[in-house]
Amino acid sequence: MRILAIETSCDETALALVEASGGIRAPKFKVLKEVVASQIEVHRPWGGVVPNLAKREHEKNLPVAYKKIASAVRGKKIDVVSVTVGPGLEPALWMGIEFAKDLHQKVFPMAKLIGANHMEGHLYSFLLAEKAPKPAWPAIGLVVSGGHTILVVMKSMTSWKKIGETRDDAVGEAFDKVAKMLRLPYPGGPEIQKAAQVGNSNAIKFPRPMLHDKNFDFSFSGLKTSVLYHLRDNPPKPRDIPDIAASFQEAAVDVLVKKTMKAVETYRAKSIFLSGGVAANGALRTRLALESEAKKLSFIVPKLSFNTDNAVMIAAATYLEILRKGSYPLRADGTMSL
Ligand code: KG4
Ligand code: ZN
Repeated sequence: MRILAIETSCDETALALVEASGGIRAPKFKVLKEVVASQIEVHRPWGGVVPNLAKREHEKNLPVAYKKIASAVRGKKIDVVSVTVGPGLEPALWMGIEFAKDLHQKVFPMAKLIGANHMEGHLYSFLLAEKAPKPAWPAIGLVVSGGHTILVVMKSMTSWKKIGETRDDAVGEAFDKVAKMLRLPYPGGPEIQKAAQVGNSNAIKFPRPMLHDKNFDFSFSGLKTSVLYHLRDNPPKPRDIPDIAASFQEAAVDVLVKKTMKAVETYRAKSIFLSGGVAANGALRTRLALESEAKKLSFIVPKLSFNTDNAVMIAAATYLEILRKGSYPLRADGTMSL
């Protein structure tokens, strides 16, 4: 099945042409061509994503991105055109939807046109690991991005249940906000990681919110506020930044890892999938890899570039959506969930 996927939910305009095969038992994806046009530079001066700027940039970038993959598309039969319909910024989502409709009508009228769920894209991005993954079920999936922090239990390739999520800020949002407090540029996650590399993660004891609660929910706004109070009470010198970044990162990673491992125990899981933008974080990847090794679980993470927003993961989610006979309507839904 040849899928042309479009992703415009936030600040990346992404298109991908992917060949999917293998069915539900062993889905495989061959990327024929992929384009990701990042808007980071446009939003950076504002310290975060500005929805109307994102919409304008998608409008500008979509035809340019399509031109870049057009040569790979030429002469090939396209079976499916899919586009992210949520969650995300609605003005941005609508740009992608309108573009997909137009492309479908003018260029691929014979293809199936369907919507895709961005979070399913992140969830299924474990299928885009470096080595072909061989997941053992049940599996625990930790999906950590700028907008979401979700734990799911997956019984099979197509059946999952959300068991926990954040009650306030997403973990990526907390990284971005703490980075802003430390006067590091947007997006803050990679900047915190970089600063933390030369810092002492035990320098400041930040709280681990909800760590000992019985449920699998998260809360990151209290952690963010304790960093704020720490900065207020101890105005930092530039040389203090690495220690604060490392201590914050340690607290955030600690909660994510311990709750994931608690879920592994509760559901007797045999695999862990980690995905979403924050899955690019080295400390989180290393800790989960070590815990998995100790418990003989298979730990599966997508190739680094498939952690942050991209259209290849949207193609993967679309393939699974079609296999389980699902179909999302072509209507932007900013708060769509897993
Ligand atoms: O999945 P994603 O690209 O977009 C959303 O769907 O939200 O995730 C973006 C988030 C941002 O909050 C960014 O700061 C965070 O992922 N991020 C990281 C790292 N790289 C990206 N957070 C921590 N460490 C990183 N290395
Ligand atoms: Zn995302």
